[in-house]
This record gives sequence, structure tokens and C-alpha cells, in this order.
Amino acid sequence: MDYLELRNSFLSELHGVLNTVELQALRSKYTGKKGVVTQKLKAMAAAPKEERAALGKAVNEIKDFIETQVKEKETALSKKDTRSYVDLTLPGAYIKPGGRHPVKIILNEIIDIFVSMGFAVEDGPEVETDYYNFEALNIPQNHPARDMQDTFYIKPQGAESPSHSNVESNIVLRTHTSPVQIRVMEKRKPPLMFIAPGKVYRCDSDISHTPIFHQVEGLMVDEGITFANLKAVLEAFLHIVFGPDVPVRFRPSFFPFTEPSAEVDLCCFACKGSGCRVCKNSGWIEILGAGMVDPRVLNMAGIDTEVYSGFAFGLGIERIASLRYGIDDIRLFYEGDLRFLRQF
Ligand code: PHE
Repeated sequence: MDYLELRNSFLSELHGVLNTVELQALRSKYTGKKGVVTQKLKAMAAAPKEERAALGKAVNEIKDFIETQVKEKETALSKKDTRSYVDLTLPGAYIKPGGRHPVKIILNEIIDIFVSMGFAVEDGPEVETDYYNFEALNIPQNHPARDMQDTFYIKPQGAESPSHSNVESNIVLRTHTSPVQIRVMEKRKPPLMFIAPGKVYRCDSDISHTPIFHQVEGLMVDEGITFANLKAVLEAFLHIVFGPDVPVRFRPSFFPFTEPSAEVDLCCFACKGSGCRVCKNSGWIEILGAGMVDPRVLNMAGIDTEVYSGFAFGLGIERIASLRYGIDDIRLFYEGDLRFLRQF
């Protein structure tokens, strides 16, 4: 093997070296005690006298070359020598799979039910103007009905404090999904049949209230829509969610944007109607608000009330989720405790 060949074979082997262990093996293969280069040095003794000096020079040169290359490789490897310590036989890190949030599970289920009945799905902004959240829903300024909903007012840019007196510029976090009714009616002509699921906000926090929660709004507007249609749709819906035999009750109530209005109750699942702690001894659990859309609301949104009528409803998702899963503190939904969330 001549010197050029020796040098090239060393270089190509060096190229394949991945870690310091391999590097040391390569080094001793060439310049170790029994290494190829060392052998050549020893063989020098047998060479004719006049050739020895040239031979010695060549061998020493290649020895130096190899040592320098090994040193350089060593520095390079020390900078990125992690691969040599990866133990491929170790088990992989276990990544726990995530799961759907219980509110999302119920929300999706409810959307599916209404979509199967032919309802479209609409969306609206969570940061809303006073007009859509209140005025257009027949809740005027200073009307006592505003007290029903503890509102988060947004401070307009540059303002000292949020103003409660200017309807035009007041910005709120929507307190219900009902503003979507108005936004859609302004955009499209009847027949309308849609739901609007989403987040709503109220300045309230206790065992049955969180500052953020979810509602599903429903609106149906067409010629000849009556309270019978409202009853049929909501009863069908509740019987799918809670079972076909659960008694459902429509109780007269008040909302500024519906007339007549009703609250819909479900027979208490815990006591079957005889009265207990869950239903506060009434035997019934309130589940949603509904009613025939007030003609004033339809008119404000540009719909001819001589031709059209409609019904609307709004249901709270956390309410339904806690009934379905038997959860007695609604705040649990938003504490992010994995021991709670893993149960669904
Ligand atoms: N927006 C009402 C609320 O949040 C619920 C509702 C919607 C009632 C539609 C009647 C009709 O309390």
C-alpha cells in the first residue's frame, strides 16, 4: 500500500466516523502499536540505507497528518456528539392523548340534533354593540330588564371609563346569543331557520354561574309560524337529549324580545317530580327560555309582520351538560382540573 492510498483510505474511513469511540478505534488502526503506519515505520529497518531517510520522512508526514485529522475530528464531534449517547432501546416518552371538553361534547351533540331537523348554523361577534345586544331586542336604555343580565362593558379606546349612556358607541361582551337573531334578519329574508351557538359573558360567579358560558340560540321565521311550531321543535329536541319519556313543561315567563314568552322546564331527573334538593323542591328543572318573536323586534330588523311571524329560543349548554353528567358545581367546567376533565 503506497502512501497516497494509505492517506485516502484513512480519510474515507474518517468520514464515516460518528462518535468518539469509533474515532479512537480508527486512530489505533492506523497509528496504534499494531497500526498500519507503525508497521511501516518498523519495516524501515529492513530498507536499504540510502532509502531510509526519504522513507522516514514520508511515514512521519503521514503520521502527523493522521494525528492532526484525528484532533480536528475530535473537536468537531465534541460539539455535536449527542448521537453516540442515544440509546435506541429505551422506550419512547408517552404522550397522553387529549380529549374533548364536556361542554364541547354536549354543544356538538346539540348542533347535530338541530342540523338534522333542518336548522342552519350561524355565527356572530362576541364583542357586540349595545344596539344588537339590547336596543334591537327591545331592551331600551334604563329599562329594568337590563338588570336581568350583568353586563361587561368595554372601555372604548381613549375613553376615561365605559359610558353607559351612549347607545351608539357602547361596546359590550354579548350577554346572550340573541343579537345573532338581529344580525341574520338584517342580512336575509325569511324563511329563516337557524341556530347560533357560541360563548356569552356575564359579570357573575357562583355555584351555578361562570362569567363565560355557552348558549345555543334558535330562530325560525316564516309565514304562519305559531307557538305550536315552537312547542313541537323544543319537545322533539328535549326528548332526543333527555329521553322520550321525560315530562316537559312550558311555563309563562317574560323576555323583552318575545311575546308571549315561556321558560321550559324538565321533570327533575333526581326525584322524578316529587321535589328534592336538585330541583329546589319544585319537581322541575328550568332548562331554556323561548317565545314568539315580539313584532317590534321583527319590525326593527326590517321584517314585515303582516306576512311573517317567528319563534326564538335560547338554551344554556353548561346547564344541559351538568344535568347530563350530574355535575353540581358549574365552575368545575372552567377550572382545568385534569382529574375532572379525564372523566368524559
Ligand atoms: N336570550 C335569553 C337569555 O339569555 C334567552 C332567550 C332567547 C329567551 C330567545 C327567549 C328567546 O336569557
